[in-house]
Amino acid sequence: MSDYEQYADVTFEQVGDSFQVAAMHPDLRLHGIGRSAAVFRLKEKDRVIKVFFPGYEQIAIEEAAIYKKLRGLPYFPKCYESGASYIVMDYIEGKTLFECLTEGVWIDPSYIEVVDEALRQARLLGLTPSDVHLRNIILTPNGQIFLIDLARFRQGQQIDHQWEDLKRMYRLYRYRFMPKQYDETLLNRIAYLYRKFVNDPDS
Ligand SMILES: Nc1ncnc2c1ncn2[C@@H]1O[C@H](COP(=O)(O)OP(=O)(O)O)[C@@H](O)[C@H]1O
Ligand SMILES: [Mg+2]
Repeated sequence: MSDYEQYADVTFEQVGDSFQVAAMHPDLRLHGIGRSAAVFRLKEKDRVIKVFFPGYEQIAIEEAAIYKKLRGLPYFPKCYESGASYIVMDYIEGKTLFECLTEGVWIDPSYIEVVDEALRQARLLGLTPSDVHLRNIILTPNGQIFLIDLARFRQGQQIDHQWEDLKRMYRLYRYRFMPKQYDETLLNRIAYLYRKFVNDPDS
C-alpha cells in the first residue's frame, strides 16, 4: 500500500542542465533542490518527499536500500516509504553546514566527530560512504548532526576523498584569524573548481 505515491507526481522543467519544478501537489512545499532531485515538505507532517528528476529515478531505489540498512542509527533520517522515483523520510529541521558557513554559524569540532562516527558505523554495515559534503549535513537547532543524500553510500562505490579534504579545510577554518562567514557565490565557485579539478577529474 502506498500512502505517498500521489505526491510524487511532480512536473519538472529542464533549464540548461538543471531542473525546475513546474507543477506539484498543493499539499507540498518546495524545500530544497539538489543535483538529482527536489525535496518537498509535506503539509502538516514532519516528513519530506524527495522526488528525483527525469533520468535520475533509479537513484530512488538505491537510496531507499541504503536508508533501510542504516535504520535505527541516530545520524540519518528515517525512511518511511519509497517508490520508483521518490523516497519519503523525516524532515530534519536546521541548517546545512553550507548554510552555516554562509550565515556565519560556528561549526564546532564536535560536529565533525559526529560525522566521522556516522561514517564509521555506515562502513561497519558494509557501505562505502561518498559524496559527503557540506550541503548533505544538517545541524539541528539543538546541536544534533544528520547526514542526508545517501545514494552514494552504496557498496562497491568508487572511493571518494571529499570528506577528508573538507576536514583538511576545517583545520584552517579553526584558526582564530580565519573568517567564519563566507560569500555563497565564492563557496559555489570553489566547490565547482574542486569537483572539476580535484575530486572528479574525468567528468
Ligand atoms: N530529510 C531532509 N530534511 C530536511 N531537508 C532536506 C532533507 N533531505 C534533503 N533536504 C534538503 O534538500 C536539499 C536537496 O536534497 P538532496 O538529498 O541533497 O538531493 P540531491 O541528491 O539532488 O543532492 C538538501 O541539500 C537539503 O537542503
Ligand atoms: Mg545533495
